[in-house]
Amino acid sequence: MRETTISEEQQVKVAATDNPVHKLILERWSARSFSDRPIEQPEIDTIFEAASWAPSSMNEQPWMYIYATKGTPTFDKMAETLMPGNQPWAKNASVLIASLARKNHANNGMANKYNWYDVGSANQNLLLQAASVGILGHVMGGFHRDKAEALLQLPDEIELVCLIALGYPAPADDLEEPFRSRELTPRNRNPLSAFVFQNNLK
Ligand SMILES: Cc1cc2nc3c(=O)[nH]c(=O)nc-3n(C[C@H](O)[C@H](O)[C@H](O)COP(=O)(O)O)c2cc1C
Repeated sequence: MRETTISEEQQVKVAATDNPVHKLILERWSARSFSDRPIEQPEIDTIFEAASWAPSSMNEQPWMYIYATKGTPTFDKMAETLMPGNQPWAKNASVLIASLARKNHANNGMANKYNWYDVGSANQNLLLQAASVGILGHVMGGFHRDKAEALLQLPDEIELVCLIALGYPAPADDLEEPFRSRELTPRNRNPLSAFVFQNNLK
C-alpha cells in the first residue's frame, strides 16, 4: 500500500474505532469535496481491476461499469441525472461511474439472486483500492433512475445499481452549505453490541 497524506482537516473523517481495524478501512470515507486533479488512466484501470477481484456467487462477476471523466459530454449528462443533494458536489468529481448488475446467470438464464450483493462487494473493493492511493469515492443512490437509464441505454438484462463519484479530496471550504458542514462531521457507526450476537440462541 502506498503512503497517502490526509490533511489535518480530513482527520475528522478517519474512523475512530474500538478495535485495531486496518488503516485502509479507517481512511476510506464518502468525500464530497473534490480537487481538479485528474485521475490518471493507470489508476482508473487499477481501481476497476481491484473491483473484479471481489468474490461473487459462482464466480459469475455480474458487475459492469460505465464511466466518464470530467470535461466530457457523458460526464455532464451523468451529473445531470443526480438528485439536488448530490449534483452540486458530485459534478466536481474527476470520474463518475455507473455501477451496473447483470440480472441473470450466464449458464442458465435464471435470475441471479446475489447480483447486487456481488456488485456491492466489487464496489467496496473499488473504493478501498482508490482510498489506498488517496482517491476517495462516494456511492450515490440519489439519482433519477429514468433519466440515468435512458442516458446509459441499458439492455433489459442489465440494471443500474448506483452511481459513484471519484476524485482526489479538496478542502471542505470549497463546498457550499450544507455540504461543507457534512464534510467536517465525524463519521460514526453502531457499536458491536447492536449488531453482533454470540451464542444468543436458546
Ligand atoms: C447504496 C448507497 C447509496 C448511497 N447514496 C448516497 C446519496 O445519494 N448521497 C450521499 O450523499 N451519500 C450516499 N451514500 C453514502 C452514505 O451516506 C455513506 O456511505 C454513509 O453515510 C457512511 O459514510 P462513510 O461512507 O463516509 O463512512 C450512499 C451509500 C450507499 C452504499
